[in-house]
Amino acid sequence: MKRRQLLKLAALGSAGPATLGYWFKVEPGLLSITRPEIVMPHLPGDLDGLRVAMFGDLHYKPEVDEPLMQKLVDAVNREAPDLVAIVGDYLEYDDAVIPPMLEHLSRIESKHGIFSVMGNHDGWYSVGSRVKKMFKERGFDFLINEHSQVTINQARLAIAGTDNVWNGHPDIAATFRGIARDTPTLALIHEPDYFDTVVTGRDSILQLSGHSHGGQCRVPLIGYAPRTVR
Ligand SMILES: [Fe+2]
Repeated sequence: MKRRQLLKLAALGSAGPATLGYWFKVEPGLLSITRPEIVMPHLPGDLDGLRVAMFGDLHYKPEVDEPLMQKLVDAVNREAPDLVAIVGDYLEYDDAVIPPMLEHLSRIESKHGIFSVMGNHDGWYSVGSRVKKMFKERGFDFLINEHSQVTINQARLAIAGTDNVWNGHPDIAATFRGIARDTPTLALIHEPDYFDTVVTGRDSILQLSGHSHGGQCRVPLIGYAPRTVR
């Protein structure tokens, strides 16, 4: 083995524990906020400037996440959103964490509702009807292959959500059934790479997804992502 290869291996060996520590101990407690401005074709003027707060991948752990949840809810409320979208993966292994998590999230103030969908972790360790019931009891809309519509000013806006893609039964036809083709639609889909299916036959759609934790395989500090998310 050449000296350069040995040096690379040594560097990887020393970086490994630090990287794992960052992923498991530091990154889960970080809250970063981005405010992209998105242009949607065919958007009525009445919806121009709509503010949607979106977050996901909480994997809520009551024993450690209390400060983070308070920061999250305060940050969302500071943005004064018109709508809130929560895009799945609420739990890690046990759906018993959902009620205490919703205790925090019920402090969120949204002018036109809070809309949620299933994530793959939620599907692995619970079932959609059970998760949906818990959310509905706290006044959240929860979409599994269905949609809701709201009127903002004089314009209709549809908010649609499928079941999670990895281990659920997403049904895009059922999800969009009853939405006029030209109605602007927010599609809440936990897994981002379902977009090719979601976009079929729609004129004005914005997909909002989680699952990637903001870039699942990024190298800490550098930000390099070696693979796109699946
Ligand atoms: Fe996920």
